[in-house]
Amino acid sequence: MEKKNIDWGNLGFGYVKTDYRYVSYFKDGAWDDGAIITDDMITMSECAGVLQYAQTVFEGLKAYTTEDGRIVTFRPDLNAERMENSAARLEMPVFPKERFLDAVIKTVKANEAFVPPYGSGATLYIRPYMFGYNPVIGVKPADDYQFRILTTPVGPYFKGGVKPLTIRVSDFDRAAPRGTGHIKAGLNYAMSLHAIVDAHKQGFDENMYLDPGTRTKVEETGGANFLFVTKDGKVVTPKSDSILPSITRRSLIYVAKEYLGLEAEEREIYLDEVKDFAECGLCGTAAVISPVGKIVDHGKEICLPSGMTEMGPVTKKLYDTLTGIQMGRLEAPKGWIQVIE
Ligand code: PLP
Ligand code: COI
Repeated sequence: MEKKNIDWGNLGFGYVKTDYRYVSYFKDGAWDDGAIITDDMITMSECAGVLQYAQTVFEGLKAYTTEDGRIVTFRPDLNAERMENSAARLEMPVFPKERFLDAVIKTVKANEAFVPPYGSGATLYIRPYMFGYNPVIGVKPADDYQFRILTTPVGPYFKGGVKPLTIRVSDFDRAAPRGTGHIKAGLNYAMSLHAIVDAHKQGFDENMYLDPGTRTKVEETGGANFLFVTKDGKVVTPKSDSILPSITRRSLIYVAKEYLGLEAEEREIYLDEVKDFAECGLCGTAAVISPVGKIVDHGKEICLPSGMTEMGPVTKKLYDTLTGIQMGRLEAPKGWIQVIE
């Protein structure tokens, strides 16, 4: 398969149109068979549920080229399960897990020419999404839905690759107690747009959101979970009902324990504790693990001992091990790697 003529090494995290996408329609209470199509345009009613009341959920995963030239995805079953939970919470029909996995394989295979080569630093980002598209004017769930998958080759989410980030404690909340923070709904990201634009204006790379109930505990950023390392080398990540259950974070806890022999714990983390940590990183599919060098809490600077030039040593080990598993350099736990054949 001849690859597209793309400058893989210089890709940012942006949209590049690929040749094929997947669509399945839900109508009269059932999903149709689904198909790979070429048309990237969507036509729908001006009164579509997604346009009026934001009835949409999505997922994000990546396809990687391994050292030995295979194309693989990482734990797509967990994306399928999370999308089932997201859909159910927004009163949308569930797109079955087996069909989700099959659709991912078909879409990646069709776009094989866009899967970045091994060693280029780029990957193929896979974006499954679902929305209500028939007219809805009274506030209620739509009747008709589309499940789609688009793909786009991407480079690093944060400019500068692995240069440590500076983040601020946000005065805005991204989630509500007992709200939708734990699902991957478009509305959570619309919520975060003002906060991120403002953070960038003030010179910060991202926002640290606190728990919306008490504003004393660390939650996550707009697009990634937090991971901290204590001064005695223990990995800790925030536990909360209003953060997205990151597949990367859950995988890193396993990697820390089983590959690196570290202690790792998911627990509530108070903002007051952050000054005592040795390292901090943002973890997610897009972010992989992006190191944080400085956290600013209303003018008060918390400078992580790992500094502003490099990833901390434990973060680096986690990064190397996780990407090693994803790129086929290290043996993966059973079921983590799905080969696209
Ligand atoms: N938190 C938020 C708000 C996200 O959008 C994402 C990205 O998917 C994550 C965390 C990381 O989740 P994952 O590791 O499953 O990509
Ligand atoms: C991902 O990491 O897959 C996400 O969806 C994050 C998004 C903000 C780009």
